[in-house]
Amino acid sequence: MHHFQVKRGELCCEGVPLRRVAEVSGTPAYVYSHATLSHHYTVFDEAFGGIPHVICYSMKANSNGSVIRTFTNLGGGVDIVSGGELARALAAGAPPSKIVYSGVGKQVWEIEEALRAGILMFNVESRGELETIDAVAGRMRKRAPVSLRVNPDVDPKTHPYISTGLKKNKFGIQIAQAVRDYEWAAGRKNIEVVGVDCHIGSQLTELSPFVDAAGRIRTLVERLVRKGMPIRMVDIGGGLGITYDDELPPHPRQYADAIVRAFSGLDVTLVLEPGRVLVGNAGVLLTRVLYTKESSAPGGKGKKRFFIVDAAMNDLARPSLYGSYHGILPVGRAPRGKVNADVVGPICESGDFLARDRRLPSFSPGDLLAVMSAGAYGYSMSSNYNSRTRAVEVMISGSRMEVVRERETLRDLARGERTASFLSPRKPGR
Ligand code: LLP
Repeated sequence: MHHFQVKRGELCCEGVPLRRVAEVSGTPAYVYSHATLSHHYTVFDEAFGGIPHVICYSMKANSNGSVIRTFTNLGGGVDIVSGGELARALAAGAPPSKIVYSGVGKQVWEIEEALRAGILMFNVESRGELETIDAVAGRMRKRAPVSLRVNPDVDPKTHPYISTGLKKNKFGIQIAQAVRDYEWAAGRKNIEVVGVDCHIGSQLTELSPFVDAAGRIRTLVERLVRKGMPIRMVDIGGGLGITYDDELPPHPRQYADAIVRAFSGLDVTLVLEPGRVLVGNAGVLLTRVLYTKESSAPGGKGKKRFFIVDAAMNDLARPSLYGSYHGILPVGRAPRGKVNADVVGPICESGDFLARDRRLPSFSPGDLLAVMSAGAYGYSMSSNYNSRTRAVEVMISGSRMEVVRERETLRDLARGERTASFLSPRKPGR
């Protein structure tokens, strides 16, 4: 469910035509629907209503402060993976008591900042990290709340780059090793063992990998409790998929029912780290056609059209990086007739495409397109490649439209850069 609908022939975000966003803020622009974000959060939260739980929005999916604040205003926490994310989460009003800190490479300064803030827990991924956290907490005269991220070795059946719960992945600690690490941690006075954590991958469209992982986690929790460890938090990560094309992922209610069932009877608080499912379909990338171009299709099968637009792989990396599908919709009345086309950006790489081999309306220069489902891992993975300024981000609520991050300027492109002193300035006229 999302609030990007055609009204009177125009694609709108809630009460605002996207054409209007382009007129006011230019293109490319990320446009987020506040009602969609709130709705997704509420549905997810209510699905777990029957059990103590904390929803820690995985802000790597979209780190805009207004997006984070939408969820924290509804009672949400945040899943972070860096000191930078910690700073932005706190600035966006996240209560430290609802922040969980994940990731394989936490640095000393980041651990210090998190301890100073008083976060809910560290999700620890190796013995080395556990030892560092123990030492840092000791120096600061604090006790660090810790969960170990275990690797349950289940196949999430998703894209290999976003699978994390298999033995061959760099993430988590294998269960047998985790038991030894828990015993070690339980004996350290600067560590408080509070929970068990796992995250098996992203964009999962089936329930069974979640259920398999939850079963293994439950067995581990019971084992640790028998050993006298007071496990009170179970974090099952994020990963629930969304519909980009024709996927049929489980509804959050089905997902919640399966998870709640897997942990029934245990006296624990569930921690959830959803990212994509909250923000993915709540955002689009708005872009304008600059040029159209034609070539003969391979094998002599008619013509192939290119729509060259003003957004590119630096704005939305997912199609180039993972071959991901994003729907393309016309913003105004669609021109008659369909053509086979690629939607490509201005970047000097053949991998710079937003859509390939699609049946699309026969767009003309100046037409606006919406690249759908771009709210997750869109802006947050964008770059300045080809010295392109990052897009503006706009949030809509009803008929209100606000810039929630300005478009970068040309000055931003060289911010912090200096000319090396041994490069003498070029003399005029030479
Ligand atoms: N928790 C942890 C520890 C994670 O590593 C992730 C995502 C999440 C939660 C949130 O997962 P989600 O609910 O969003 O699936 N750039 C890729 C996705 C990378 C996901 C990384 N980890 C993409 O564009 O598909």
